[in-house]
Amino acid sequence: MKNYLIPEDDGLSTRTSGKWVTEKLYYLKRYIDMFETSMRNKPWRRRNYIDLFSGPGKCVINQTSEFYLGSPLLALTTEHPFTDYYFVDADPNNIEVLKERCSASQSAARIHYLVGDSNTHVQTIVNQIIQIDRSFIKGKWPSINLAFLDPEGLELEWNTVATLAQVGRMDLIIHYSQNGLTRNLEICYNSDDETIIDRFFGDREWRKIYQDWQNKKTRVGIHRQLIDYYKAKLQGLGYVEVLRDDETGAEPLIRNSRRKAPLYRLLFASKHELGHDFWRSVTRKDVYGQRRLL
Ligand SMILES: C[S@@+](CC[C@H](N)C(=O)[O-])C[C@H]1O[C@@H](n2cnc3c(N)ncnc32)[C@H](O)[C@@H]1O
Repeated sequence: MKNYLIPEDDGLSTRTSGKWVTEKLYYLKRYIDMFETSMRNKPWRRRNYIDLFSGPGKCVINQTSEFYLGSPLLALTTEHPFTDYYFVDADPNNIEVLKERCSASQSAARIHYLVGDSNTHVQTIVNQIIQIDRSFIKGKWPSINLAFLDPEGLELEWNTVATLAQVGRMDLIIHYSQNGLTRNLEICYNSDDETIIDRFFGDREWRKIYQDWQNKKTRVGIHRQLIDYYKAKLQGLGYVEVLRDDETGAEPLIRNSRRKAPLYRLLFASKHELGHDFWRSVTRKDVYGQRRLL
């Protein structure tokens, strides 16, 4: 129990990953630290951290056997913890192990766990936050929220992103699976049924973009076009500042360590300029301290 909240082997099950995971965790940790340092003394009713694909709390790098804290434990062990946490995972074993690890935290009583599909559970979480926000308390502001959406591939459905946007102050860090799209675009395009990509984008417009790109009606890369479409949809939800010409640099591309093949981008969305300032500052340098290349 002593080492449940530090990045070392504690005998419980752990997620195995490639070295690239450290980059994702680096940006997330920096954003969490900045967010909490800046927001903790303001009169928010609650400061919620929502992790819809939480995993078991720790990961181990396959090549080096180094241990890292996964996203839920990074959020839990930040210097100024959130007031409340929501952790969801489809795998019951992940939640069981995560619960065991989190039992060592002083914030343990403030954690809500849900097992199952986060695309289903998200409404329950949002309803709870909205209900608390509606109960007026003199001198208090409604809640402020950060959601980390880190699926394996394309499991994050657009409806889930839209549901989170029902909450007034909700920042999003989204694992946008470029690799998942590359692997599925052709198959899904050739299917008339509702596909995983239809659910990911929340409609079938991507098919038109893909078709035009295949017919060489446009010279821009397919991923750039699809990301811009996704960001335009975020803008439609009220994330007013996500679509900016100078913003491509703030979409770190995480690559496979060995072959350098693109895996996913981290997309950020906030309804407030301050969130974007934080994210720009967080992503300016990579995990090695180098100015990040676009
Ligand atoms: C990339 S891992 C998350 C890693 C974690 N964020 C971390 O930093 O350690 C994705 C997790 O999502 C879970 N998962 C996959 N599909 C899901 C779904 N539809 N709903 C909830 N969890 C899901 C998997 O069991 C897995 O633990």
